[in-house]
Amino acid sequence: MTGITSASTGRSVRGWLLSVPYTPPTMVSLPPEEVYRKIVATGVKAEGLGARILGLGAFTSVVGDAGITVAQRLPIPVTTGDSYTITVAVQALREAGEQMGRPIRNATVAVVGATGAIGKTCAEILSREAGELILVGRREDALHAVKERCKGPAHVTISTRVNAIYKADLILTVTSAVHEIIEPQHLKPGAVVCDVARPRDVSRAVAEQRDDVLVIEGGMVEVPGAVDFGFNFGFPPGKAYACMAETIALALEGRYEDYTVGKDISAAQADEIGEIATRHGFKLAGFRSFEKPVSDQHIDEVRQVMVYTQVIASVFTPPYEVSPMEVTPSPDIFAVLLFLFFVLFIALS
Ligand SMILES: NC(=O)c1ccc[n+]([C@@H]2O[C@H](COP(=O)([O-])OP(=O)(O)OC[C@H]3O[C@@H](n4cnc5c(N)ncnc54)[C@H](OP(=O)(O)O)[C@@H]3O)[C@@H](O)[C@H]2O)c1
Repeated sequence: MTGITSASTGRSVRGWLLSVPYTPPTMVSLPPEEVYRKIVATGVKAEGLGARILGLGAFTSVVGDAGITVAQRLPIPVTTGDSYTITVAVQALREAGEQMGRPIRNATVAVVGATGAIGKTCAEILSREAGELILVGRREDALHAVKERCKGPAHVTISTRVNAIYKADLILTVTSAVHEIIEPQHLKPGAVVCDVARPRDVSRAVAEQRDDVLVIEGGMVEVPGAVDFGFNFGFPPGKAYACMAETIALALEGRYEDYTVGKDISAAQADEIGEIATRHGFKLAGFRSFEKPVSDQHIDEVRQVMVYTQVIASVFTPPYEVSPMEVTPSPDIFAVLLFLFFVLFIALS
């Protein structure tokens, strides 16, 4: 990667994208030790190239203890990118809500995957801003613990049922499920969903059947400078995932240290990396939905359809019975999930 230049200092960094050739289903099915070995071997290669910090992208940060073991075994520092992912996800949900006429302060907000590394800190931050907050996860005891962390004024409830999100105006979903878990019937008219998960949590059927809801991908960021990633990972030129951006921002800041490792991330750390990234010129890069850009016109159309469907929905109750959060994987999704799993390395040029 070349051309990355800080907007505040003019400092440039270069880096490498290296792939760990495992899909998410493979990573979750293998013993963590085997996946660690592969990631560490890639990290050693990165160090040989001259990298001074290693970023763990996508599922390489989800496996096992989220970077702690990998950091212990490598001579260069490691970060998962989760702190900046949290900041950008909340920002994207907030901005999409505003554009849909659903400001977060009046909204019922749901976090799906609320017991995860990213989800629990998003919940903590959203409890400062939302009217009501619904935490959705698989384990009730863990949900209670996350609820304890939510010190903001929002009224917080928990649920182990994904259909609890039907009440929500704004939904942030960030599970590490390897299959889709949010289906068209789970969403009320006008709902805004920020899907941070990779592979995604929201079923493609939502895009096909629900033109009255807005689904955006969380975490696309504009990187400062005339950036050439040297590889097309599916984003427009100059745009990166927030987890990649965290590693780049730390390199621009000269913070060659283990930054985000492990599954306990403080809201203060998410705030700090947000401040560092903004200072160097990173910013939210508009919205995308199912690999396509979301235009203002599309948002207007969703709002119009929402008004009609809300009238109809007010007459009927939700058309389904409660179902467990865990759903059976649909086999075809695995074909779609030939997703890039990368580790990102940045070094001073
Ligand atoms: N867009 C980006 O830039 C970016 C950056 C980093 C990560 N990510 C993505 O964010 C997601 C979450 O990462 P994380 O580090 O927070 O993961 P994590 O710590 O493993 O947490 C995952 C959460 O998902 C839940 N979960 C796992 N499998 C599930 C299933 N089958 N059904 C329902 N819930 C399930 C977990 O529940 P339990 O607590 O019960 O296990 C937990 O709440 C991943 O998809 C990752 O690839 C995206």
